[in-house]
Amino acid sequence: MNIQELLKKWHEKVNLPEIELLISHELNKNRSFITAHPEYKLNFWQIKKIENNLKKRQKNIPLAYLTKEKEFYGRAFFVNKNTLIPRPETELIIENVLEQVENNENKNYLILDIGTGSGNIPITLAKELRELKKNDFKFIATDISKKTLKVAKKNATRHKVKNNIQFYKSDLLKNKKLKEKIKNAEKEIILIANLPYVNENFKNDLLKKEKSKALKFEPATTLWSNDEGLNHYDRLIQEIKEICDQNNKKVFTVYFEISPEQTNYLTKKIKNYFPNAEIIFKKDLAGLNRLCVWK
Ligand SMILES: C[S@@+](CC[C@H](N)C(=O)[O-])C[C@H]1O[C@@H](n2cnc3c(N)ncnc32)[C@H](O)[C@@H]1O
Repeated sequence: MNIQELLKKWHEKVNLPEIELLISHELNKNRSFITAHPEYKLNFWQIKKIENNLKKRQKNIPLAYLTKEKEFYGRAFFVNKNTLIPRPETELIIENVLEQVENNENKNYLILDIGTGSGNIPITLAKELRELKKNDFKFIATDISKKTLKVAKKNATRHKVKNNIQFYKSDLLKNKKLKEKIKNAEKEIILIANLPYVNENFKNDLLKKEKSKALKFEPATTLWSNDEGLNHYDRLIQEIKEICDQNNKKVFTVYFEISPEQTNYLTKKIKNYFPNAEIIFKKDLAGLNRLCVWK
């Protein structure tokens, strides 16, 4: 069978760009090769592997889990079933942190990423800051899952920033060594968290919707949170507050990725622990509040 014949066989079951991507993944060639060479003959094993993946795709298994890769801020990240697939809206964090750093030329920061997943946030920031010739930044990345951290470390090696990032397995900030690091840090801290924030009450309804069906293949621990989706953030704010109470010189700028409808409830939660906090919300491409920045 050649490429054209395979596309013809599958195009009514799986959308065309995805078939092309799965073929290009198997052949280790780029998409333009696939479109330019419809006559290219596929061997038995290539067809078997591509069709296996097409069958999985029909069952809504996310494409990134089949190709084991997802692009984030222009770089490819390894992903597997133990990690959330990085989302384009999370790039808003990168843009805003880079803006903060560029506007404060002389400051040196410790950048903490809580719930790092594939490591996409600290790795991207480390790469971008290196390109800006800012090499004095320290990074700490944490996750509650050991298997997830393994993926993040693999990505850090792939992108040659392993020496810039320290990894900790920790439930939020509870790991004692991590807590010490934060307390002893002389630098100002940028704390980033894209923790699970999808309202657990919406789970059953969301998983029934066609466009959200793929969510059931991502680890539940990466997505859902109770208390209208804000339980993780609430606990984290409380832990930040404890650190600030023990060391009143600590300065944190905090970035939380959120769902737009959480704006008021999150504001209330932050004000509950930090009545004088300055809180701003940044909008995503759809014009909706997607990022909460507070200090
Ligand atoms: C929404 S995913 C975000 C992954 C990645 N930061 C990104 O932006 O693509 C949330 C991550 O938080 C981790 N996580 C969940 N509960 C946690 C906790 N209590 N402490 C630390 N990490 C947690 C999950 O394992 C998961 O990797």
